[in-house]
Amino acid sequence: MINFALIPVAGRGTSLLPLTKSQPKEMLPVADKPIVQYVVEELITCGVNRLLFITGNGKTAIENHFDINPELIEYLRLHGREDELAELAFEREAAEYCYMRQRYQLGLGHAVLCAAPFVGKQSFVVALGDTILGLKQRSMIVQRMITLYENCQHIDGIIAVDNVLPYEIDRYGIAIQGRTIDADGTFELKDLIEKPAVGSVQSCLAVAARYVFSPLIFDYIKDTPPDENGDIQLTDAIRRMLANGRKFYGVTMNQSERRYDIGSFESYFKAFADFAAIAKV
Ligand code: G1P
Repeated sequence: MINFALIPVAGRGTSLLPLTKSQPKEMLPVADKPIVQYVVEELITCGVNRLLFITGNGKTAIENHFDINPELIEYLRLHGREDELAELAFEREAAEYCYMRQRYQLGLGHAVLCAAPFVGKQSFVVALGDTILGLKQRSMIVQRMITLYENCQHIDGIIAVDNVLPYEIDRYGIAIQGRTIDADGTFELKDLIEKPAVGSVQSCLAVAARYVFSPLIFDYIKDTPPDENGDIQLTDAIRRMLANGRKFYGVTMNQSERRYDIGSFESYFKAFADFAAIAKV
């Protein structure tokens, strides 16, 4: 059973400046928790509890957040502040946290490739640290993807997809659907295009920040040339695998599984407002 995930959190977060000048985008609060805590809790709920963060310059707040802070615990205990102590329960989740740094910011594909020596020959999950899946209930899509992957010996990966509006396709990797595997929204992936121009493709199925991969992906990332911005795209590596006859499935998110991709102030404010509305205060 796959229980290992890479969580890339090395991006510069420039779309949220000045907020992200000296703090990681993934640590921005969404109601009462930082974004990345939602990601970690979702993975643990899906049975994925070996977590390797791909961090970078200026991201040490993430390591501090998931570490145990004995002094703070002791202080709260001494002062009988049980309610506040309960807010630190996530520190004791049954998870292993590891960290490595992407030393050069060369894109998402490169960030994933950095972990190759540590992943070895196991299949693994990639969960982008700036996207929350699920509002009132955590999304279980990663668990569904793992189960499907393990039941299909002949595929090399699975991507989660979500329906977006036609004018939004230039913000995402867009999946071109092939053969239907299951009426619940599982399909064979025909092609994948990173941020296509609006109107250039018919599909509105966006890559929803969760992936399952066989370690073969590393061989393809290694040979993937950078795009015009100098980024080695994970999407391009998947696309090259498809072109080489490798098989991927897409799994569509349920209507009830809300997706919050914190990529702009608009999406950040929306996420904050939705989560604040249901937070206990
Ligand atoms: C990345 C991926 C893109 C995916 C998106 C999901 O883009 O490259 O394919 O759809 O995450 O959030 P980014 O948001 O880093 O530009």
